[in-house]
Amino acid sequence: MTTHTTTVTQTEASPSFFASATYIPPDAIFALTAEYNTDTAPEKVNLGQGTYRDANGQPWVLPAVQKSREILLAQGLNHEYLPILGLQSFRDNATLMALGSELYERVQSRLATCQALSGTGSLHTAGLLLRSCRNPLPKIYIPSPTWSNHHQVFSSLGFTCESFNYYNSAHKDLDIESYSSALQNADPGSVVILHACAHNPTGCDPSKQQWMELGHIIKQRGLFPLFDAAYLGFNSGNVDDDAFAIRYFVGELGLEAGVCLSFAKNMGLYGERTGCLFLVTRSKETAVNTQSTLEMLQRSEVSNPPAYGAKIAATVLSNRELKDLWYKDLETMSGRIRAMRVALYNSLNKYGAPGNWDHLIRQSGMFGFLGLEPDVVLQLKDKYHIYMAANSRVSIAGLNEKNVEYVARSIAECLKRG
Ligand code: LMR
Repeated sequence: MTTHTTTVTQTEASPSFFASATYIPPDAIFALTAEYNTDTAPEKVNLGQGTYRDANGQPWVLPAVQKSREILLAQGLNHEYLPILGLQSFRDNATLMALGSELYERVQSRLATCQALSGTGSLHTAGLLLRSCRNPLPKIYIPSPTWSNHHQVFSSLGFTCESFNYYNSAHKDLDIESYSSALQNADPGSVVILHACAHNPTGCDPSKQQWMELGHIIKQRGLFPLFDAAYLGFNSGNVDDDAFAIRYFVGELGLEAGVCLSFAKNMGLYGERTGCLFLVTRSKETAVNTQSTLEMLQRSEVSNPPAYGAKIAATVLSNRELKDLWYKDLETMSGRIRAMRVALYNSLNKYGAPGNWDHLIRQSGMFGFLGLEPDVVLQLKDKYHIYMAANSRVSIAGLNEKNVEYVARSIAECLKRG
């Protein structure tokens, strides 16, 4: 018997394996940074990407981080693999930082933790975990507006994402009614993405009272809270204050929850991709099983996470002296941002920028959500070399004594021209 095999050859004439790939425009915030970098105007100001800058507009290596690096170097740094789940002392200390010692002790046996590639990697790993544990896939509720990457992280994993109204643009404030009613009407068993503090982009967070009410709705409705916690300590200067919602949901309401920690902003470890995902589960057994699933998912995705940032962060968090120094660094960064927020507000008023700017003062965290029209944002970039996100979110850290008046005067000029 003869067997016939068809020979298929790949030639230059055959269609590409990627013929169906569609063109995706570059990520807006990274593209803006690239555009800023090529701008040669001496007066240029970067208020785009959320990266801390010191009073001279320069990246800042935190003194606590600098000390930690020196300690690591003196100990002799090698470049061995970390375990699949990451550096144990980093996972433990990061989780302890977020929960506080009393709550950490209480829930320790029910924790599943996994080092991850900063905030994005933590969210993605949480998505992978939910996808492997929940069938059918839960819906993901995401506030609108939100961080530009949230939808993509979850939709690329096959989840259906649904936006709910978070911000009242007329009042330039949190829309707590819409928020509560979205949660009240959410499909039970769904996931809700919560910005633990320093909401990006609006800078509007629920008050403690509002968090408590939202938590009760989440509990009653059987939703899973997944915190994006990229700004703990960076928002107010105090980790405990910034972790209020996480601790209330887990400690007081007894909810199962996921927390995606990033040390990009609060330790300035942007490029080191230092993060941690932890889950507070219902039982010790569930935690063991969940963590084993995380280990398999991590192995198949990145094998094991990057070591340097985790070693730096673990050294800071586990050394009393360095931790105190870090607390000071957090005050330095959040304090400078607060001062620049006030300076921008005062200068906008000084130059008679039309409108009321009180919302700028009410907001907190890294960003100011100005409420400018897209054509004003464009004019500011093209005529004044001032770069900000298209939704007029400004990274306040990009302001300093030398450029804040220029920025305010330029905004005032654009608005007066109409
Ligand atoms: C931002 O929102 O600008 C930052 O969190 C950077 C990023 O990755 O988008």
